[in-house]
Amino acid sequence: FERTFIAVKPDGVQRGLSHRNCGVMRCGNHSTTILQPPMRDAISEIISRFERKGYKLVGIKVVVPTKEFAGKHYHALKDKPFFNGLSEFLSSGPVVAMVWEGEGVITYGRKLIGATDPQKSEPGTIRGDLAVVVGRNIIHGSDGPETAKDEINLWFKPEELVSFTSNAEKWIYGVN
Ligand code: GTP
Ligand code: MG
Repeated sequence: FERTFIAVKPDGVQRGLSHRNCGVMRCGNHSTTILQPPMRDAISEIISRFERKGYKLVGIKVVVPTKEFAGKHYHALKDKPFFNGLSEFLSSGPVVAMVWEGEGVITYGRKLIGATDPQKSEPGTIRGDLAVVVGRNIIHGSDGPETAKDEINLWFKPEELVSFTSNAEKWIYGVN
């Protein structure tokens, strides 16, 4: 099966940690849910969207990349005016780096993520539902087979990735 590199960027990680103001208020015998946060924890939300689709997580870690490493990750954009800010931003806090596996995961993963600019992402996509501006679009996904291979090799050592067959696979793919 195909593999892709997916990362929750520092904004996605931080968004999940703040606004933990959802709770159950008890008033006599009644309990009421109060103050829904603007989003659920972004990390679990993003993982669950890929997992529920039927894709398989084969590698995950939390890292704070250096600016130099962030620049390597985004090397294709080095001539863009926003490159410096982008590299600075990606290295500004923890990133949840992941490798997801499954049929068509590179292309369909990008569909789950949505358009680069959250103002243009469809509702129902991760960026459409959870982000507002292009510079803070909370998630990264490889844009093709070559970049997927390069990005997986950049972020992970081979021994950090696992290969396994999940019990659900025959039900997801209909093969034995
Ligand atoms: P990634 O999955 O993060 O690679 O996004 P993408 O593939 O949808 O877009 P692209 O690779 O073209 O750009 C990489 C990242 O640079 C985007 O996710 C944005 O965070 C940022 N970016 C892209 N275009 C702009 C822009 O016009 N202005 C700013 N400030 N940031 C941009
Ligand atoms: Mg890209």
